[in-house]
Amino acid sequence: MRHSPQISVAPMEGVTTFPMRLWLQMTAQPRIMTSPFLRVTRAFPEDALPDTFIPELMQLRGALPYELIPQMITGDPQQFLRVAEWIPPAIAPVIELNCGCPSPNSMGQFAGSGMLRDPEFFARSIEGLAAELGPGRLAIKMRLGIEDDAEFPHLLEALAPLPLARLTVHARTRADGYRGQARWTAVQHAAAHTTIPVHASGDIWGWESWQKLQATAPDVQGAMIGRGLLRNPWIFTELQTGQRTRIAGVTFINALFCYALLQDIFLQDAGKLMQRVAKGRLGQTCGTDFAAWEKTTVELTNLVYGVPFLLLQADSFKHRSLSPVAFSRLRFLWSYLRSSLPEPFTTPALMRCKQPLDFFQQLFAIVEEWGESDWDIGHQETWDAHFSGLRG
Ligand SMILES: Cc1cc2nc3c(=O)[nH]c(=O)nc-3n(C[C@H](O)[C@H](O)[C@H](O)COP(=O)(O)O)c2cc1C
Repeated sequence: MRHSPQISVAPMEGVTTFPMRLWLQMTAQPRIMTSPFLRVTRAFPEDALPDTFIPELMQLRGALPYELIPQMITGDPQQFLRVAEWIPPAIAPVIELNCGCPSPNSMGQFAGSGMLRDPEFFARSIEGLAAELGPGRLAIKMRLGIEDDAEFPHLLEALAPLPLARLTVHARTRADGYRGQARWTAVQHAAAHTTIPVHASGDIWGWESWQKLQATAPDVQGAMIGRGLLRNPWIFTELQTGQRTRIAGVTFINALFCYALLQDIFLQDAGKLMQRVAKGRLGQTCGTDFAAWEKTTVELTNLVYGVPFLLLQADSFKHRSLSPVAFSRLRFLWSYLRSSLPEPFTTPALMRCKQPLDFFQQLFAIVEEWGESDWDIGHQETWDAHFSGLRG
């Protein structure tokens, strides 16, 4: 890698939305994030961006320290340009087109991976967009092809001469979905055959895989972390320091509770959440510092329940709850995160909890039984099959 590589938050639809981005800012302060895609059609968005798409660049401009790159998905380059006009370079120097989403819906509309179905259409579309938007403005995120890695060199040929801001390669085909290993050699091929800054996406789970990526693809200028940040939300600190994150049980539980509260208030009243961020009351980096998470918990419980309290025992939660959607988002995070924790936390009983009170009570009970006040969060290879479609 030539300079100090950029490690960023990958776009994940329905996952790295504003409350998750704010929480990641609190856990490990990544410097760059890309928004999940906004699906753009002739009819949508009609005359303005949705308020919750990229608040960091709009209502909250300057309130948070990270850079955010907006991403859109469409099969119609004219619609991309129509919406891009609402996000001028002074607001977002770079905007990204998704050419990787594997969903049948996207494919059907020649969007996402569907853009790769016809290499001539792909080449013409990206060339046209790059010319309209000007040098250094358009970023592309793509897969290696539809069915076969052999499609990639031809697709890449069309991009190579263009002045793109960034090319991120999720090193799988559409047919792969999220299964199997990402092919980092293909990312190296792209980095070595273009002058575009190439970033890798896929299968970076911690310091070790990060070192392997750098050895396999020495010319890439950065990497995105997707599911790796769900398995370890402190991964950005690990990748900077080379050290595993060590955290105290109560701090960890408070951090998780804050995640659920952020989801809850975002669903209840996103405007209220944004006001607090604009006032500088939320968004500080807490890392593994108990006092900082305590302060954030107080701020968020006050916002959600109208009463500030701490989650020092799950009992403080007895007469309160979380909305079912916020709790299901917490459970989704947990389904990944448990793979980076010591064995007692991997119990299926936690995954089966139907109520937030049960979930937090069980967590506290495990922390108490476990006896160790601090533990390491870090990648455990034994879980990889679970995330690579090899489970069955
Ligand atoms: C739930 C989910 C949602 C995703 N949404 C998007 C998206 O909105 N835009 C995009 O370019 N990629 C999206 N991706 C792909 C990721 O950005 C990333 O390229 C892929 O997960 C491989 O990286 P990883 O192994 O680090 O997860 C999504 C992936 C997942 C798992």
